[in-house]
Amino acid sequence: MYFRKPFFGRVITVRDRQFDVYLSHVEISNEIERVARNLMHDYKDSTPIFLGILHGSFMFFSDLMKEYRLECEVGFLKASSYLGMESTGKVKFHEAGELNLEGRDIILVEDIVDTGNTLKALHEHLGHQNPKSIRTCTLLFKKEAYKQNLPIDYVCFEVDNKFLLGYGLDYDGLGRNLPEVYILKEEQ
Ligand code: IMP
Ligand code: MG
Repeated sequence: MYFRKPFFGRVITVRDRQFDVYLSHVEISNEIERVARNLMHDYKDSTPIFLGILHGSFMFFSDLMKEYRLECEVGFLKASSYLGMESTGKVKFHEAGELNLEGRDIILVEDIVDTGNTLKALHEHLGHQNPKSIRTCTLLFKKEAYKQNLPIDYVCFEVDNKFLLGYGLDYDGLGRNLPEVYILKEEQ
């Protein structure tokens, strides 16, 4: 049962499901360092705004920002399209924050890009505020599930089209605090 067993070991149980370790914290940190270096190279002449898409990106966002050693601003936007394990297809936004995005370079920071519905809706939502540019930086990219044409500019990991958990990603509200990424076990 969740929280009765500690979150150690390769297999964990969250609610009714078992998950296996998929990406270790060390692997995640190494990729974040690489992506942060690429971002610093590309934005060295700008003061970009990093927009974290809540809740899923909170852990990635924090670790990425610690590696980005140049001038920038940060903000958050809440988007929701998932219910349990299925994407609902409809994306809702809450609190756009108080940043003035006009003429600014925006980097959307996502935990995972799956169908791309959230990303498409975000581009439409933010486009009205006339930013100079909008790029996407994601920890995980489910390339096989992606249905949009927007480029995914910075990707830490291309992943299998399976349900993942941890390091910000949740299963029905649980598991976001795990420092590794886990994958749903097949045989259940
Ligand atoms: P999209 O709109 O289909 O690209 O889905 C984006 C959102 O769905 C992500 O920001 C996550 O919150 C959620 N999501 C997609 N795949 C997974 C997964 O494997 N585990 C947990 N959440 C996921
Ligand atoms: Mg999310």
